[in-house]
Amino acid sequence: MSHQGEQDYSLTFDRLVIVSNRLPITVSKDEDNGGWQFRQSIGGLVTALTSVLKKRKGMWIGWPGITEEANLDGLLARASDELGYTMRSISLDKEELDLYYFGFSNEVMWPLFHDLQSNCNFDPAYWYEYQVVNQKFAKVIAENIGPNDYIWIQDYHLVMVAKELRRLGVKNKMGFFLHIPFPSPDAFIRMPWRVQILEALLEYDLLGFQTPRDRNNFVYCMEAVLRGFRVDTRRQVATISTPKRKIQVGSFPISIDYKEFASVAASEEVANMSNQLRRAMHNRCILLGVDRLDYSKGIPEKLRAFRNMLERYSDLHNKLALIQIVVPSREDIPGYQTLLSEIEGLVGEINGEFSQPGWVPVQYMFRNFERAEILAYYRASDIAVITPLKDGMNLVAKEYCAAHADNKGVLILSEFAGSAIQFRKNALLVNPYDIEGIADAMYRAYEMDLQEQKWRMRKLRRSIARRDVYWWVNFFLQTAASDVAVPR
Ligand code: F6P
Repeated sequence: MSHQGEQDYSLTFDRLVIVSNRLPITVSKDEDNGGWQFRQSIGGLVTALTSVLKKRKGMWIGWPGITEEANLDGLLARASDELGYTMRSISLDKEELDLYYFGFSNEVMWPLFHDLQSNCNFDPAYWYEYQVVNQKFAKVIAENIGPNDYIWIQDYHLVMVAKELRRLGVKNKMGFFLHIPFPSPDAFIRMPWRVQILEALLEYDLLGFQTPRDRNNFVYCMEAVLRGFRVDTRRQVATISTPKRKIQVGSFPISIDYKEFASVAASEEVANMSNQLRRAMHNRCILLGVDRLDYSKGIPEKLRAFRNMLERYSDLHNKLALIQIVVPSREDIPGYQTLLSEIEGLVGEINGEFSQPGWVPVQYMFRNFERAEILAYYRASDIAVITPLKDGMNLVAKEYCAAHADNKGVLILSEFAGSAIQFRKNALLVNPYDIEGIADAMYRAYEMDLQEQKWRMRKLRRSIARRDVYWWVNFFLQTAASDVAVPR
């Protein structure tokens, strides 16, 4: 189907209602007049959903990103006019945000679902507030929908919303997409509220996961924890039948707006910045890491591997450099501060040990970047090193390839990123816990001849172009629409 092609699901539902923790805008104080201003968030998900929401005259419901009490009606009306669909905001005060977002979402769900149980803090107060805030979302949704709207809930912050909506008597079709991995039963059963979480997920009509592995883990967890249902996994989209209803369960690998990325990366502005960067690095081979500050991203492991490579392959000294960009995130959580100190300590140690006049092996940056700048870094670098300990998909891998129109460049990718399934043949896959293995992959990437680079990169790019974020949205919504015959 073409991206702009008529979508079958448009005949099935009236409006599409997207619900996510954050609205697709960032609200901030206007320094000049003290009022509120907004900026549209960038990213493939927002772009892809915006195009569907515009067509369907849809709605996006979420938190506007501030905890101050404020009347945002005027601002949201302006944003809705500008973006072409309606927006409704959920206000959260500081305590709600602390317990629901930093607490349950990011100190329980996030680490547990990324197999990092030692980072979990199963504080019951987090769980209670998570339910209260999910109820709050449900109430606003119920007040704003029509009977034939499709409600699509995004991500781990909002698992309980369908259950709360059903309690309010809402009968609409509802889908849920989990952007992060789903853990195996061994990890999941540690969750004190495992029954409630799984039962709440069964209130949706369609459950979407990033990979078949996540989907299967969900089914295995169901089998380990709940009783009284049947699973049919014979089709690509499985079904779970309970005495009350049928739920579709599938894998829908998310992607990027490939064409848009490739075209901005090819722009003169990005080309100039990229050339400047290469000159600044004296045309040395550039290895690049771009990660949000998160312990799931394997940044210390990557730095240790880089150090190991410098120790074992001294012929590479002065010939290459690692540019590591770390984007600030969730800094109110103690574990993130510890991670930041660890990263900064390692960068200091490596540079202290190996730097020479005119050569600093690790160039480390901890700040936010404009998208054009990031694209310039992608374009300028020879090797991307992406080593998450676990990741739902990892869109940096896709963005890096989309930016390489010249088909040069090598992708080193953790086998525990969701994208490794799609890229397993043409990326250099590594185990992020295997420091020497990553170091060897870096060396191999450095040595790889242009012909092999191009042959691999062409295939990587083709597969991203074929399954971009529009394909993802269509695939999910068409699956949702195909379910109309399934009785409730
Ligand atoms: O990967 C899950 C995710 O929620 C992304 O959707 C988001 O970009 C990232 O984590 C950071 O999210 P936040 O800053 O809202 O915690």
